Order: sequence, then structure tokens, then C-alpha cells
Amino acid sequence: MSGYQGPMRVLSGIQPSGGMHLGNYLGAIRKFVDLQHEYECYYCVVDMHAITTWQDPAKLRDQTFHIAASYLAAGVDPKVATIFHQSGVRAHAELAWIFNCVARLGWLDRMTQFKDKAGKDKERASVGLYTYPVLQAADILVYKATHVPVGEDQKQHLELSRDIAAKFNHDFKALDFLPLPEPLIKGPGARIMSLRDGTAKMSKSDPSENACVFLTDEPDVIARKIKKAKTDPNPLPEAAAGLAVRPEAANLVGIYAALSGKSDDEVLAEFGGQGFGVFKPALADLVVEKIAPIGAELKRLEADPDFLQGVLADGAERAAAIADPTIAKVKEIVGFLV
Ligand code: TYM
Repeated sequence: MSGYQGPMRVLSGIQPSGGMHLGNYLGAIRKFVDLQHEYECYYCVVDMHAITTWQDPAKLRDQTFHIAASYLAAGVDPKVATIFHQSGVRAHAELAWIFNCVARLGWLDRMTQFKDKAGKDKERASVGLYTYPVLQAADILVYKATHVPVGEDQKQHLELSRDIAAKFNHDFKALDFLPLPEPLIKGPGARIMSLRDGTAKMSKSDPSENACVFLTDEPDVIARKIKKAKTDPNPLPEAAAGLAVRPEAANLVGIYAALSGKSDDEVLAEFGGQGFGVFKPALADLVVEKIAPIGAELKRLEADPDFLQGVLADGAERAAAIADPTIAKVKEIVGFLV
């Protein structure tokens, strides 16, 4: 049990490596909005993580603005929460190096996201991709964040962050210096699946453009993607237990539940026994109602990069004011000259 006594803080991040989609929104950004009035919150655009796979430099800048605009469009208030770009706060990289010397090779060898992303040809993956979760631990712990809202796919990385914090505290006899951060994963929308395959995560890198609803999709595109979503031929079950072996149906019901604030059972009380010919148009209407206004605002904000640059620069300054004292103390603890 951690006896950490510091303030409760939230940190999370999203990679500027492509368009924001419904999974990012439901798994992460929506939680960012809800948490901002409860905790001191830091929301990062993790550009240093993005370059662990190739990013065209000319596009990276726009993608960074895209993520910042998504935070704002969804309702994160930059006066309440701190929105910034990771490369704008040097302490992330400094702490990541020290954590590289704390984390063990065996721990990183178990990371499933590296295996998924590196594929068969892992010899050609960047070293950064391998050590990616260590930088993620630094992102969190340089703010001594106690809570981290993420989707289900980040669970293993969060466990690694806790292991790194615990080993640092133990090895340097710095009892409770770093908190053991708690993942905030639970809730509907933690794992949104592809619209083309209910067993694969919705992902911006999916080769099928119909697999993923992007926040910037126009209403007619959203409706078309939902109507084309893969399903099975049976009507919807009367209760959630009937979704167990029907991944595509479970995913669509889950999206409806997450966006409407209802449980799967409540959704099925309304639509159970009906076919997808009835359910899909209702789902398409709901997704358009909830997502299209965010997409429109996102596009409006993206058209003003100077404004977004100002938000990020201001955020980076505020973030550094918290991160710099942490890294200074870490250097002292490790025995570096101060
Ligand atoms: P990234 O950029 O891949 O995804 C951003 C957030 O979206 C969530 N997410 C999903 N949630 C539900 N269903 C999906 N299909 C789905 N796809 C993505 C992710 O869980 C994530 O919360 N490693 C992180 C970025 C990161 C970070 C951090 C997160 C870097 N440093 C520090 C938290 C704290 C990532 O790759 O996210």
C-alpha cells in the first residue's frame, strides 16, 4: 500500500499520430472533461511518443494542433486544466532517462503493445518504441500524478508505471516520494472496437476507413460508416448476457450505451428483439448528435493554429512549474550534482 501524501493529480496524454476517433473520445477525452473540475489536471499531446514510429515532420505540427483542438472541442477548459505538448517540458525526457535505468529489460519484454506495433520485424523497430512505456511513466510521475484516465489498452503500461515508481522509491530509499498512479479505466467506452471487426480495437491505423469514426467525419459519413458496420443476422438480445458471443453486436450496443449514459441492459430493454435495420439508424443519429458538434468545433479551432500554439505554450509553462522541481529533487535523490 502506498502511503503517498501529496496532492491528487491527473495526467493523461494522446499521441499526435493521426485523426482522433470515437475510441479516443470515449476511452479518454470524455473522462478528461469530467475530471477537470474534480482534480488538478494535466493533459499532454505526446509528440515524443508519436515519433517512436515515423512521422512526417510537416504533418506532426498539424497533428499536434489537432489533438490540442480535440481536447478543447470536447470541453476541456485550458484555464482549468493544463493542456501542453510533451516536448515543451524538458523534464519528461530527463526523467525518462533515469527511469530507463530503473526499469528492467524483463519488464519491457512483456509489453504487448510493443509486440503488436513492432510486428514480426522487431529488429527494425526504433529503440524508442521499445522504451516507450518508460517515457509514459516519466510523463505521469514527473507531475506525481495519482490518477491516469485511459482506455483499456493502456492497462499494462500503467502497471509498469506503478512498478517503476515502487522500484525508484525502494532503490533510492525515498519512501513514498513517488505515488503509485491509479489507472482510471472503468466505465462504458473503455474499449471501443473496429466497426469492421468486433474483435479488433478501433484504431486510427486500421487500413479500412469504415472501421473507425473520426471526430471530424461529416454527419453523412458517420451515418454511412454505422450503417455499413459489420453485424450478425440475428435480432438484438433482450439482455446484455446475450451479447457474450456476438462481438459486433456487443460493440454497437456498447457505443450506444456509452453515448447515451445508459447501461447495455437499458439499451437492450429498448431495442431487444429488433433487427439492426432499426438499431443502426438510431445509433447513427445518436453518434451524429454527440460527435458532429465536437467535430465542427474541432475544425473551427484547427483553422486558428496561432491560438492553439498560445494555449500549448502557456500550458507548457504551467506544466514545467510542476515538473521542474520534481526532476530537480530526483537528480538530488539519484546523486547527481545539483
Ligand atoms: P493513444 O494515443 O494510442 O490513445 C489515446 C487514448 O485513447 C484510448 N484509446 C481507446 N479507448 C477505447 N477504445 C479504443 N478503441 C481506444 N483507442 C485508443 C487510449 O487508451 C488512450 O487513453 N500510450 C498512450 C499515450 C500516453 C499516455 C501517457 C497516456 C503517453 N503518455 C501518460 C496516459 C498517461 C497512447 O498510446 O495513447
